[in-house]
Amino acid sequence: DGSILAKDINGNLIPASQILAEPPGTRALVAGLAGEPTYLTVREDGTLHPWGIVDNCTHLGCTFPWNPNENQFQCPCHGSRYDPEGRVVRGPAPLPLKLVRVAVETDFIRISPWTEIDPRTGQKPWWV
Ligand code: FES
Repeated sequence: DGSILAKDINGNLIPASQILAEPPGTRALVAGLAGEPTYLTVREDGTLHPWGIVDNCTHLGCTFPWNPNENQFQCPCHGSRYDPEGRVVRGPAPLPLKLVRVAVETDFIRISPWTEIDPRTGQKPWWV
């Protein structure tokens, strides 16, 4: 089904408990589908958000940090900004950030392609 287990930068599987030990609001960067850096979100209730956000700006593909003070993803290349769920707040990025599906499986994190309706737009995802 094209899914993988989340790994760290060294290619080691990441225990879900390691990420869930972080405070609510944490955006943890992991290696996701095709090795794409992907942000996982620890929710207020201490569970993982079922959407992962791919760290690949829809403008020209830069990677970007999470800015916890402004509650945005902010691309350093040309200044695009995205809200916590990856919707564009400021261009030049033309499209919301790509989503992947995230599920905890025993103590690992399974990441799979997001092919259903984009819950942010109510439309078919642009990446499918
Ligand atoms: S690549 Fe992110 S704003 Fe241009």
